[in-house]
Order: sequence, then C-alpha cells, then structure tokens
Amino acid sequence: MTIGLWRSSQLLEKPRVNEEPKPIAITLSSGAIEPIPLTRKLDNRKVELGKKLFNEPKLSKDNTISCASCHGLDTGGTDQLQFSRGVNNALGVVNTPTVFNSEFNFRMHWNGVVTTLEEQVDKPVYSERVMASSWPEVVSKLQKSPEYTSLFAKIYDDRINSDNIKDSIATYERSLYTPNSRFDKFLRGEPNALTSEEQEGYSRFKAYGCVSCHQGINIGGNLFQTFGLFGNYFEDRGEITKADLGRFNVTGNEEDRYKFRVSSLRNIEKTPPYFHDGTAETLEEAVELMGKYQLGRQLSEEDIQLIVKFLKTLTGEYQGRPL
Ligand code: HEC
Ligand code: HEC
Repeated sequence: MTIGLWRSSQLLEKPRVNEEPKPIAITLSSGAIEPIPLTRKLDNRKVELGKKLFNEPKLSKDNTISCASCHGLDTGGTDQLQFSRGVNNALGVVNTPTVFNSEFNFRMHWNGVVTTLEEQVDKPVYSERVMASSWPEVVSKLQKSPEYTSLFAKIYDDRINSDNIKDSIATYERSLYTPNSRFDKFLRGEPNALTSEEQEGYSRFKAYGCVSCHQGINIGGNLFQTFGLFGNYFEDRGEITKADLGRFNVTGNEEDRYKFRVSSLRNIEKTPPYFHDGTAETLEEAVELMGKYQLGRQLSEEDIQLIVKFLKTLTGEYQGRPL
C-alpha cells in the first residue's frame, strides 16, 4: 500500500535508530509491517531526568498528578480506564493512549493535533482536565529544588526551562520502545515464533484488509481514517460528543469529520478498553466492531478468535522484560 511505502521511505531517509534501515522489499513482503529496532542510541542522562519528570506530581497545579498517573508502565503505558481523571478529579473526554512506542506514530493524539513528542508535553501540562498548570508555575516549583537544579545544570547550559523539560521528557519517551514481540521475531525470520493458529490469524488480518490501515512499524499510527467507513458507528453508539468529530476539530474540513489516527496495535492486549471513546471492553469486541464498521464484514467467531490470538503476539519487551 502506497502510504505504507511512503512511511517506510521516510524511515529510510531519517533513521532515528542505530540500526541499518530495512530494504523496502522486505517491508513489502511482510505486508508493510516492520519490526521495532532492538536497540537505539539515546542520551542516558536525559532519559533518567525525563523519567524523574514523568513521575513528578509537581508538573500539576496541585501537585497530585504526574504523567505516570495516567500512563502507568505496568499497565501498558495507560491506566486501563475508559477515561482518566486529572487535577480536581476532572474526567477526560477520550481514552488515554499508550506512551509506549509513541515516537513511531506519525502524529500524536487521536486526532493528530500534535506532531512531535516535545510539543506534546505542553498539552497535559496546560489542559484543565489533566494537570491544569503552566510552564512558569512548573519551572518555578522545580527551581526551588536543589536536586533538580543540579540535575539540569549537568545536562543543559541554560538549566531549568520549559524547552529543557520537554526535551528530557521526550527523550525518556523515546526510550519507551518495546522490541522483540513474538510477531517481530516471526518477521525477522523465526517461523516458529508464532503457532499455526497465530499465523492463521495474521493471514486473516491481511486477507480481510486490516493491514491496509494497521501497518508500518507501529502496525498503525501512520495514517488517518474515518471511523465508520461502513455503517454509522457514531449513530449506532449514540450521544455524539465533540471529541467524536476527530480530525475535524483540528482542520475544520468536512471530509475530516469522524476521522481518527489509525491506532497502533502493538501491546494492544495490555491497553483495554479500546477506541477513542473507550467503549470496547475486550479485544474480541474491538475486532468485531472493526470488521463491521471498517471492512463492512461480519467476522465469524473463529475469525475473531484467530485474529485476537495474532494480536496477542504483538506484545513486546520493555528493558528486556515482557510488558
Ligand atoms: C489525566 C490523565 C493524563 C495525564 C496526567 C497525562 N496524560 Fe498523556 N494522554 C492522556 C490522554 C487522554 C491522551 C489523549 C489525548 C487526545 O488524544 O486528545 C494522552 C496522550 C498522550 C500522548 C500521545 C500518545 C499518542 O500516541 O497519541 C503522549 C506522548 C502523552 N500523553 C504523554 C504524556 C506526558 C509526557 C504527560 C505528563 C507531562 C502526560 N501524558 C500526562 C492522558 C493523560
Ligand atoms: C479503514 C481503516 C481500518 C481498517 C480496515 C481497520 N481498522 Fe482498526 N482502527 C482504525 C481506526 C481509525 C481506529 C481508531 C478508531 C477510534 O477509536 O477512533 C482503529 C482502532 C482499532 C483497534 C483499537 C485500538 C485501540 O487502541 O483502542 C483495534 C483493536 C483494531 N483497530 C483492530 C483492527 C482489526 C483486527 C481490523 C481488521 C478486522 C481493523 N482494525 C481494520 C482503522 C481501521
């Protein structure tokens, strides 16, 4: 598929990882899905500082909420709730996506409003539903801490400011990649990494056309698509919200109404509930609805079971341990 190739060639031009990029031919024969690199070079001092900041409640107005409150690494990089609660118990309007492998998504957020991980950090810090704070507030709190003052001074000449906070958090997020899923081993040429049922699930995933949207290094995350290509998902579900308008909220273009970034399916077993509205509680339910609304196909019970088995092989490792 053209878009998969486009994304792959982007990766070939700008490999951000310390590994030789894969030739396009391999990408194509594996259905335009690529394995996650096994290692990458990152500035460890920034990773460590970014980790501390990611777990720092001082980033929120009342010092109660850190990034990790909603993006727990033990719970797939999410909090596994339909909607998360921020400062003052404010309820979110979309399901919290994972922070694992987020750099491999071409845009951030369900509607793609954000382009880079650095830029993304502004959103939670300022959002009233998340941390309800501001950079001047955060910077002045951190400046009162001798520990932070010395940690920043070791890395950044200009010390504690919003750019440096964003830089170190984003670097930490780039360290949250999950290579070595059984499926990646399969792609790298270990046929026995998947059982025959899991391989059959992958065959159906390709044959039915899931792969036309869920593809590339993140098995998703590299294009926008309408949710409800066949049938009207939103009318059927009811109570349409502003967040349901998806990419329309970013561009104002009629054609972007109900368009969302195609979700990455990596580690998908670990991040229920599913969809931007968090309404599908199980993977089986999500797969059935995808068949119905994205492919116009009523999947059989067997199809669903096999595809779910395949999806569960997409769980990778973080720092050498399965997620
Ligand atoms: C109250 C819960 C909550 C907190 C706290 C929170 N987030 Fe999020 N995060 C979300 C939600 C919800 C989204 C999706 C927003 C959207 O799509 O409109 C999101 C999206 C993201 C994304 C984009 C992922 C992707 O692939 O689209 C990243 C990266 C991220 N958050 C990092 C952070 C960082 C860094 C912090 C701390 C500075 C943080 N989050 C704090 C709930 C939270
Ligand atoms: C036409 C494009 C398209 C096709 C085909 C498609 N999907 Fe999706 N998929 C999407 C989009 C867009 C989303 C995000 C929808 C939302 O929540 O707004 C999504 C979300 C998902 C999710 C939930 C992800 C999450 O984190 O919540 C799963 C699971 C999924 N798809 C699996 C599949 C499977 C399995 C198939 C084949 C049976 C399939 N998809 C076919 C576009 C597609």
